[in-house]
Amino acid sequence: MNPRLIAVGVGPGDPELITLKGARLIGEADVVVCPIGDRSDSSVAATIVDGLIDPARQQVIRQVYPMRKDPAEMEASWQASAAEVAALVQSGKTVAFVTIGDPFLYSTFLYLYRILGESYPDVAVQVVPGISSINAAAAAADCPLGLASDRIAILPATFEEEGLRQTLADFDTVILMKVHRVFGKVRSLLAELGLVKGAVYVRRVGLEGEAVFNDIDAVAEEDLDYLSLVIISKARAEL
Ligand SMILES: C[S@@+](CC[C@H](N)C(=O)[O-])C[C@H]1O[C@@H](n2cnc3c(N)ncnc32)[C@H](O)[C@@H]1O
Repeated sequence: MNPRLIAVGVGPGDPELITLKGARLIGEADVVVCPIGDRSDSSVAATIVDGLIDPARQQVIRQVYPMRKDPAEMEASWQASAAEVAALVQSGKTVAFVTIGDPFLYSTFLYLYRILGESYPDVAVQVVPGISSINAAAAAADCPLGLASDRIAILPATFEEEGLRQTLADFDTVILMKVHRVFGKVRSLLAELGLVKGAVYVRRVGLEGEAVFNDIDAVAEEDLDYLSLVIISKARAEL
C-alpha cells in the first residue's frame, strides 16, 4: 500500500458495524493508532477493532488525547500526535487511525487532520467513513430521522439554551450529542416545550450497557454516560 494515514470510522460499538473497506484497510496497515482519553485507560475504537489486528505483524500505538480545559495543553498534545503519525508515514509506513463512528463527525481525528494539513502537507490522508452513533441510535430506538422535506439538526448539547430552543423550533428532528453532563437542563427545556414525548435517550449503542429510554423522565443519574445521545423527533411526538 502507498504510505499514508488512513482514518477509519469503525462505527459506534458493534464490531459488525465496521465497513468491509475499513476492516480490510486496518488489517493491511503497518501501524494502527488508537486514540484514548487521558482520564480512562480504554479506547472504545481499539476494542472494536481488536479482532482485526495481528500484533505479530502490526504495530499498535495508543495515543493519548487529553480531555482538558487548557487549550495550550491540548494543542501541544495534538501536535505531538501529529508529529508521530507524520514521521511514521514519512518513513514509508501505512498508518490506520481508528475512530468511533465517522471520522468527520465530532471526531478526535479532526484535530490530527487539521494539524497534518497545516504542518505536514506531504502526508497523504485517506478517510474511510463509518456508521455514526446517530444512525445506530436511530435504528436501536426505532426512530426514523427524516423523510421528504424534513429538516434535521445535529448539535452538541453543551449548552447554550437560546440556540437550542431556536433549533428545536426550526427543525423536525434534532440530535443532541454529548448530552450526559447537561441532561437535566435538556429535559427541563423539552418539558417546557412539550417535546418530552418526542424524545428518546440512547446510551452506549452497540456496546456493553446499551439502553434505549423511550421515556426520558425515567433516566436516572446513574443511567447517564458519555457515550449517549438524545433524538428529538416531532413526528414521534405527534404519534
Ligand atoms: C466525540 S463524539 C464522536 C461521534 C462519532 N464520531 C460518531 O460519528 O458517532 C462523541 C459523542 O458521540 C455520541 N456517541 C458515540 N458513540 C456512541 C454510542 N455507542 N452510543 C451513543 N452515543 C454515542 C455521544 O453523544 C458522544 O458524546
